Amino acid sequence: MNTNLPAAATITSVRRLTADTSLFTLACNDRDAALELSSFQPGQFLELSLPGFGEIPISYCGLPSACGAIELCIRHVGHVTSPLRRAGPGDAVGLRGPFGHGFPLDGYENQDLLLIAGGLGMAPLRSLLLALLDQRSRWGNLTLLYGARETGALLFLDELLDLTKRSDIRIQLAVDRREQCLEGPPNCRVALLPALLDGLAIQPEHTCAALCGPPVVYAYLVAGLKQLGLSGNRIHLSLERRMKCGIGRCGHCAVGSFLCCSDGPVFSLTQLQGIEGALA
Ligand SMILES: Cc1cc2nc3c(=O)[nH]c(=O)nc-3n(C[C@H](O)[C@H](O)[C@H](O)COP(=O)(O)OP(=O)(O)OC[C@H]3O[C@@H](n4cnc5c(N)ncnc54)[C@H](O)[C@@H]3O)c2cc1C
Ligand code: FES
Repeated sequence: MNTNLPAAATITSVRRLTADTSLFTLACNDRDAALELSSFQPGQFLELSLPGFGEIPISYCGLPSACGAIELCIRHVGHVTSPLRRAGPGDAVGLRGPFGHGFPLDGYENQDLLLIAGGLGMAPLRSLLLALLDQRSRWGNLTLLYGARETGALLFLDELLDLTKRSDIRIQLAVDRREQCLEGPPNCRVALLPALLDGLAIQPEHTCAALCGPPVVYAYLVAGLKQLGLSGNRIHLSLERRMKCGIGRCGHCAVGSFLCCSDGPVFSLTQLQGIEGALA
């Protein structure tokens, strides 16, 4: 497939997740493009184009799928994502990808895994979580810490509450504030996301952490993880910088000497050490 040219795809379903965020399922019209676009590593992204509006980078949110279905979780915030709020089954979009480097699943073999998502960061981490659960015996203890503004902004809450019934995963949620009318899920604290790391029992020499969230929270999370004893090569985080081409040509997404689209978006903390502004 020529990654400069979008492949034609069709929206097959839309699920409203919260007031401003929807889960889209897409199918490529061409079989070869479907195979390529639906073979990805969690943490990779694709470029989604909406005819007449533009093209934007969006993370894979589901599992790589043999039948070519692609799940994308999209927050409706601007020129391209807002008209997508009105899109529905049968509508046409274009897709290019997969692009970038995702989370290093092979390096996670036999390790305890700590997934930390803030806000919309749950979209790529859902893809990672589903992949880990799909091959559960390959990994040690699995913990998900997820924080959002308020209870109504927690993405995939139904799925996460279902997972709390399993004994092979720990899930702790946090919200900055709780709406008065909502009681909130049982495993949800009113706290900032980094506070969930306080006193967390982990074995740092056997644990890897995968982070995705707003840049503002990374410095606090990294400080908390270091306090728990995690070294930089055991911490992976996704840097979502403004992108244009998505394939390392335009330089829009530079962080130090790295290009987020082609060298990332997932980096180890060790890679980013010494790069001013990388975690801001
Ligand atoms: C690798 C990568 C993966 C992404 N994955 C997802 C995803 O899974 N789901 C999702 O909803 N969004 C994701 N984004 C962000 C998404 O690309 C932007 O929200 C989108 O480009 C906005 O386009 P727009 O034309 O609708 O908004 P615009 O009209 O361009 O902007 C609207 C508002 O969004 C802000 N904005 C635009 N782009 C970004 C950005 N990259 N980061 C932070 N703020 C931005 C602008 O400052 C403005 O306030 C990802 C971005 C990257 C780089
Ligand atoms: S978006 Fe063009 S180089 Fe990264």
